[in-house]
Order: sequence, then C-alpha cells, then structure tokens
Amino acid sequence: MTKVISIANQKGGVGKTITAINLSSFLTILNKKVLLIDMDPQGHSGIGLGIDIEDEDYSTTYDLLINKDKTLDDCVTEIDIKDKTLDLVISNVELSYAERELEKLYRSPIQILKKKLKPVVKSKVYDYIIIDCPPSLGNLAINAFLSSDTIIVPVATSFFSLHGVEKIAGTLNEIMDELEIEFNIFGLLTRYRRNQNVSHEVHQTMKEYFNNNMFKTVIRENIDLEKAIGEGLPICEYKKSSNGYLDYKRLAMEIMSYGN
Ligand SMILES: Nc1ncnc2c1ncn2[C@@H]1O[C@H](COP(=O)(O)OP(=O)(O)OP(=O)(O)O)[C@@H](O)[C@H]1O
Ligand SMILES: [Mg+2]
Repeated sequence: MTKVISIANQKGGVGKTITAINLSSFLTILNKKVLLIDMDPQGHSGIGLGIDIEDEDYSTTYDLLINKDKTLDDCVTEIDIKDKTLDLVISNVELSYAERELEKLYRSPIQILKKKLKPVVKSKVYDYIIIDCPPSLGNLAINAFLSSDTIIVPVATSFFSLHGVEKIAGTLNEIMDELEIEFNIFGLLTRYRRNQNVSHEVHQTMKEYFNNNMFKTVIRENIDLEKAIGEGLPICEYKKSSNGYLDYKRLAMEIMSYGN
C-alpha cells in the first residue's frame, strides 16, 4: 500500500520543507520508493535538493494540476541520493496561479491531485508519497489533504507557535467534518532547544491538541540542517555526525515502524 503523507501548518517557517526533504531522503536510502511533491509556490523542496526551479525544461506541480493531458510520470524529476533515486515533482511561482485556474477549469477543483495520483497509488509504485504544503489553507493544501491518509504538523518550539497549534488542529478537524473524510493527524516538534522553558510548554500543549498523537522523535535545532539546504543537499548526504542526521533518520524509522 502507498502511504500518502502531507506536511502542513499554515504558519510559515516551522520546518515543513526541511522535514519533507529529509524525511523523503531517509526513507529513500532506507530502501523505500518515495515520491515528493512540492505543493508550495515558493518551490523550496526543489531548491533544497539542488534544482534550478526556474529552468523551463522541468515539468512542475502546476503542469500536473492544470494540464489535463499530463500524467504524474510526465512531471517527475529524478534525484540521486547515494545509490538510490527519489522522485520529485518540483514547483515554482507559477503554482500560485493554479489556485484560481483550478476553479475555472474543473468542477471539483479540490480533487485534482487525488485524481492524478490515483494510477500510481493503484499500481503501488511508491511506498510513500510525501507532500510539502504551502503555509496557507487554500485549494492547494486542500488538494493535498484530500489525497492523504496522514497529515504531519510540524510545530516549532516558540511561544507564537503555541497559538498556531490551536488553530491548525481545529481547522484540520473542521476540514475532515466538512469534506467527510478522515486522516490521521500527527504533531512533530521541531527546532527543539533543550534549555528553553517554552520547549516544554509547547510539548505539553501539543499533546493536548493532538490527543497524544505526537511523534516520539523530536527534531532539534541544528545549524547543519540549514547549511545542507544551502548546499542543495539532504542532511544524509551532508553530515552524518550531525543531530539533524540522527533526528531525521529516527523520524523516518519511526514512521516505517508504523507500517504501510
Ligand atoms: N531543526 C532545525 N534546525 C535549524 N534550522 C531549521 C530547522 N528546521 C528548520 N530550519 C530552518 O528554518 C527555516 C524554515 O524552515 P522550512 O523552510 O523547513 O520551514 P517551512 O515551514 O517549510 O516554511 P514555509 O512555510 O515558508 O514553507 C529554514 O531556513 C530552515 O533551514
Ligand atoms: Mg516550506
């Protein structure tokens, strides 16, 4: 079975993209077949993996959603990670036009990604499909949610994040009610600093909002994660001896332990 996981939080800068990139990369080197889809017009998943996202030779998430003739296979860019391959659908600023265009083009504009993924989900090509969501809850994010069985909500350990947690947990539950769908929601604590009081407080509050559905793995603040992104590399190809390497490997293994 293919597990489809969206990484979402309407708050910006909480570690969605860094999680999408490094989780996808570790799952890949741990022998899983993975597709990463960038649903954010900022295009950071592609940039973080060293792709020139403005190069017009690449097909993008925009093409996948808007061009009725394009299949998923047409839009995949292959990324070498060690001796394995991660499949990536890149995005760029063009995707910001998709939100409005989807409404003009389709009667059911929130179901397009699900439709486009259906053949690969059916043929079980992938063990995991990871979707990096934008920091907003418009049609792009809803397309991602409707395609997913699980949503990971990264929450950075800062005071303002606490405020955001309440909002995202509530909104996701409303979306499930309204659209009559069900997905698992898991909180992931990111940018954790041990000596910070607020870290403990955020952890406790998250447990409440996510009904204890929290990853045991916590992602620590680690400058090497940022440096790796700057080099266009996942942490597994950048620095084995870093906390970022350990934490994201642990997260990938925790997710694999829950089975497909
Ligand atoms: N654990 C961490 N340690 C150090 N830096 C981190 C960590 N997590 C994220 N960052 C840095 O914080 C910044 C924001 O992270 P990221 O881009 O993953 O967030 P995001 O939620 O995807 O943001 P956006 O909502 O804009 O898409 C990046 O520069 C990233 O390198
Ligand atoms: Mg991002």
